[in-house]
Amino acid sequence: MKACFCKSFRIEHPVILAPMAGVVPDPLVAAVSNAGGLGIAPLWHVSVCDLRKSVRSIQQMTGKPFGVNLNMEFPSMEHLDACLEEGVEIISLFWQPPGEFLAHAQSGGAKVIYSAGDAADAKAAVDLGADAICAQGWEAGGHVRGNVGSMALIPAIVDAVGDVPVVAAGGIADGRGLAAALALGASAAWVGTRFLAAAEADVHPDYLSHLLAASENDTAHFDDLFDLGWPSAPHRALKNSTSRMWEEAGGLPLGERPGEGDVIATTGAGADVLRYQSKSPSSDLTGNVEAVSMWAGQGVSLVREVQSAGDIVRDIVNEAKATLERLREYQ
Ligand SMILES: Cc1cc2nc3c(=O)[nH]c(=O)nc-3n(C[C@H](O)[C@H](O)[C@H](O)COP(=O)(O)O)c2cc1C
Repeated sequence: MKACFCKSFRIEHPVILAPMAGVVPDPLVAAVSNAGGLGIAPLWHVSVCDLRKSVRSIQQMTGKPFGVNLNMEFPSMEHLDACLEEGVEIISLFWQPPGEFLAHAQSGGAKVIYSAGDAADAKAAVDLGADAICAQGWEAGGHVRGNVGSMALIPAIVDAVGDVPVVAAGGIADGRGLAAALALGASAAWVGTRFLAAAEADVHPDYLSHLLAASENDTAHFDDLFDLGWPSAPHRALKNSTSRMWEEAGGLPLGERPGEGDVIATTGAGADVLRYQSKSPSSDLTGNVEAVSMWAGQGVSLVREVQSAGDIVRDIVNEAKATLERLREYQ
C-alpha cells in the first residue's frame, strides 16, 4: 500500500506506532520500523543521556526510518539537539504549539510531525512549515489534545492543511480503522492502544489484562483526574478504582480529593507512584497497578490478544486491503 505519508517519510506501510511514554521500549520502535511501519520513540521524559542511548540502540536494531517524540508541555532544546546530533530524521512534537522547535528540527535535517487537536492548531503548524500533521481524535488513549472525534476531525484537518500529509490518530485499532482513515483523506494511521498489547511493549501484566478484557465503554475522558505531575491536560484512561473513588466524592480538584498522597505503587527504581499521578503502568511497577492511570483509547475493545509488533502491522495492513477491496462493490 503506497500513500503520500509513506512516500515522504520513506516507509512501506501506513502504520505508525504512536509514541506512548513509559511503555514503548526501544525494541518495539525498531520492530515496527523493521516491519515496514514507522516506530516513534517517546523520549521526552528520559534524561538526555538516556535519550542518546535509546536512539543509538534503535539505530542498531533497524536501518529503517524511525522518529522521536518530544512533549512541548515540557520543552527541552537540549533533548532536540541531542536527537539531531544522533542523526534522528523524524521528530514528533505534541501538546503545545511547536514554536521555534519546528524550524530548529528542520534546520538540523529532520522532518517534523505535529500532533493537532483541531484544524486551526494544524493550520498554524503547517504555516510554520510542519511536514505532516497527526490529527488526534477524542477517542484516543493517553493525553488528548482536542474535543472532536476522529470521524469529523480528520476531514476537517485534511481540508485545512492542503498538500501536507495527515496521519489519523484515535480509535484506530485494526485495518477497518485504517481504511476508514484513508477514506477520510488521511494517508496513514497512528496507532497507540493496539500496540499496548504488542509482545515487545513494556506494560504491566495487570494493565494488559484489563486492556484485553475492556469493552468500548470502559474508558472515560477526564479533564483533570490523573493530573499529578501534568495538570490541565485532558486524558483518556480505563475507568478504575481511583476514578470511581473520585467520582463518588464529587469529582473534586487536586487538594480536596479522597486518598490523595496514597502510595499506590512503586517503580522498579524505588520511586513512589501516588494516587492521581500521571504515570503509565509499566512492567516494573509493584503494588496496586489497577489504581494507576491505565491509559487506553476507545478502540480498546478491538484489542483481544498479544501479538508481535510485526504481526500487528501486517494484520492492520492486510485487513485494510481486504476492507478496501470489499468496498469496491459500492463503486
Ligand atoms: C499509554 C499511552 C501513553 C501515551 N503517551 C504519549 C506520549 O508520550 N506522547 C504523545 O505524543 N502521545 C502519547 N499518547 C497518545 C498517542 O500517541 C496516540 O495519540 C493515541 O494513543 C492514539 O489513540 P489510540 O490509543 O486510540 O490508538 C499516549 C497514549 C497512550 C495510550
